[in-house]
Amino acid sequence: MKVLKTQKDLQNQVYLLKAQNQSIGFVPTMGALHEGHLSLIRTARQQCDSTISSIFVNPTQFNDPKDLANYPRNEALDLDKLREANCDFVFIPDITEVYSPNEYWHFDIGKLEQIFEGTSRPGHYQGVTQIVKKFFDWITPNIAFFGQKDYQQFLIIRQLVSHFGLPVQLFCHPTIRESNGLAMSSRNARLNEHERQIAQTLSRTLFDIKAHFADKSIKDLLSEARSKLTNTPELELSYLSICDAETLEETNEKTPAKIIALVAARIGEIRLIDNIILKS
Ligand code: PAF
Repeated sequence: MKVLKTQKDLQNQVYLLKAQNQSIGFVPTMGALHEGHLSLIRTARQQCDSTISSIFVNPTQFNDPKDLANYPRNEALDLDKLREANCDFVFIPDITEVYSPNEYWHFDIGKLEQIFEGTSRPGHYQGVTQIVKKFFDWITPNIAFFGQKDYQQFLIIRQLVSHFGLPVQLFCHPTIRESNGLAMSSRNARLNEHERQIAQTLSRTLFDIKAHFADKSIKDLLSEARSKLTNTPELELSYLSICDAETLEETNEKTPAKIIALVAARIGEIRLIDNIILKS
């Protein structure tokens, strides 16, 4: 696996791949890699001739400086994992390679920025779209791979791609879970054993909603699930909603073609999100 540190090296490499007519699969990450990321790499390898991943803890998408400072980082271990997954190239830029001082970015995300993670983490999706647009411009991947766990992020990146007419196909990979159901996340590394037990309530609640989706109303599903979550000690529920999966508008009807349940909660210092497709 070749490690690329500068934008110039990255773009030279991309130029060579394109000259050889190789399709490029891109897996952007912020490191602290887990099985979820590695399954994206493996899928990219199956679908494209070469795979480029990136490791960059993007400061512009953190609205809380403490969260940025505490974000888990382990570059040496990440590189081993990427090598083992047969990733071809990894881009690990320094911040000065990515941003010029006082750089300005605003992308009109509209409604999708005014709900759920958009309101809980003001500015987060501005930072995400800012970095993803740069990486897409530099790499011009044929397919970019994202995890379903960050479903709202996926929809916003889809909007970014459509707005700028970027020639990239997006792939939303199903969430990879630990054996206890907990959605894999880099933030799980910061949970202690007790918090990990509490965190499982999130996926259990989503699985329950899915199991009863056919026989209960959305109103009943939500009120039962919300009361279970709000009665879980040490779990601070941020939201639990059932939405049209194309727009993330909340729905009380089962008529939308694709329906998703989304949840977010804080357990101790750690904020976790998860979701499940109820109808597709
Ligand atoms: O999902 C993530 O890890 C990040 O938001 C991404 C897409 C790598 C952008 O920094």
